[in-house]
Amino acid sequence: MPLQIIVGAQWGDEGKGRIVDWFASRADLSARYNGGDNAGHTVTVGPRIFKLHLLPSGIIHPQVTAVLGNGMVINPRTLFEEMDMLNGSGISTLPDRLRISYAAHLITPSHQALDKALEGARGKDNIGTTGRGIGPAYTDKATRRGLRVADMLAPDFQERVGDHVAETNRTLRMYAASELDPAPVCAQYREFAERLKPYIADTSLELHAAMQAGKIILVEAAQGTLLDLDFGTYPFVTSSSTTAPAALTGLGLGLDAARTASVIGVVKAFQTRVGSGPFPTELTGDLALRLRGSGANPWDEYGTTTGRPRRVGWLDGVLLRYAVRINGITELAVTKLDVLTGLESIKLCTAYRREEQSYTDLPFGPSDLSPYEPVYEQFNGWKEEVAAVRNWPELPSAARVYLGRIASLAGVPIRLVSVGPERAQVVEKL
Ligand code: IMP
Repeated sequence: MPLQIIVGAQWGDEGKGRIVDWFASRADLSARYNGGDNAGHTVTVGPRIFKLHLLPSGIIHPQVTAVLGNGMVINPRTLFEEMDMLNGSGISTLPDRLRISYAAHLITPSHQALDKALEGARGKDNIGTTGRGIGPAYTDKATRRGLRVADMLAPDFQERVGDHVAETNRTLRMYAASELDPAPVCAQYREFAERLKPYIADTSLELHAAMQAGKIILVEAAQGTLLDLDFGTYPFVTSSSTTAPAALTGLGLGLDAARTASVIGVVKAFQTRVGSGPFPTELTGDLALRLRGSGANPWDEYGTTTGRPRRVGWLDGVLLRYAVRINGITELAVTKLDVLTGLESIKLCTAYRREEQSYTDLPFGPSDLSPYEPVYEQFNGWKEEVAAVRNWPELPSAARVYLGRIASLAGVPIRLVSVGPERAQVVEKL
């Protein structure tokens, strides 16, 4: 399929980076369409671990051109840090391999200050944002006073940045937060603009041309379905559309592109969440510690962007079915199967119960999950190591039973299963 959209089917951190990496070996372009540097995608290549927040993970493959779409909010500082990190590893980020939409919005230190001030004002009801300024940047976009990447080309860009800082200072004052000095921000953003200019493009036009030429475009969603602004556990969500249909508007593609799309839903073999909000299958105690890991390994359940310990629980099949429906998922990639190895038994939430009534679909979406109790099916665990398995029949039979039930609940087939952090530790179900 020319358009392959990789989405998170949970609350983010599903391991999309390594699944993108798997598909990227056959792709021509790799594009992101939502969010900003709140994302954290990890790709492990031998001894090297790449942690990317803004750039699409596909950029690690030399034949791939990376695209940052119009639906994104871009902090140029993070972007340049990432570009420098990749350049240091011998990966080129010259303008022939990295294209940035003129219509994407810019994140500034003012947005970050506002993010922190707003979270502080929410007190115990805070969302637990990443503090990267994502919400305030999208707010500016929606209220039509945002700074766009194209503004960097304007002769009065510095003045526009100055006006933006002054405007934000008025809001910061309302929250009794420290104001920012516009002068250093303006100077810094002028420098950023000089460096970014050669990368600015009409990426919609370029993606259309690529599709017409029969190129394979890999589209990488950030965050996950349950953090989507419309379809997630509102208000405990991010400020962008994280689901697959948003890939079209976030990249400037028309509905015709959807005709050629496959949608790969990435789902962890258990459930995690970082930040506040509902989580019906959440675990505490020893089992939670076991699933989370100590933090000693890069793959343990600690946020890639903030380092916060993630909340962990059993896989929620009701929310997975929901994610399949909202995204139009055509196949699944199940990650971190190896983490379950050694457990005596594994539970999978197959329905919710409320006052003796059972639900496999939610009447009003996932915002208020407090009235529901998860209903579990229990599966035998397995003791055999799976890290070296590369073929489906070699997986322990108990693991295949568990995976089979995930696929039947979701109503779509499993195509890939990851059994370790390394690039090659993937089982493809042929
Ligand atoms: P924001 O996107 O920084 O505004 O944060 C809003 C919510 O989304 C918080 O609960 C964050 O923890 C969560 N979040 C944002 N980005 C990610 C991600 O890439 N993975 C997991 N959670 C995320």
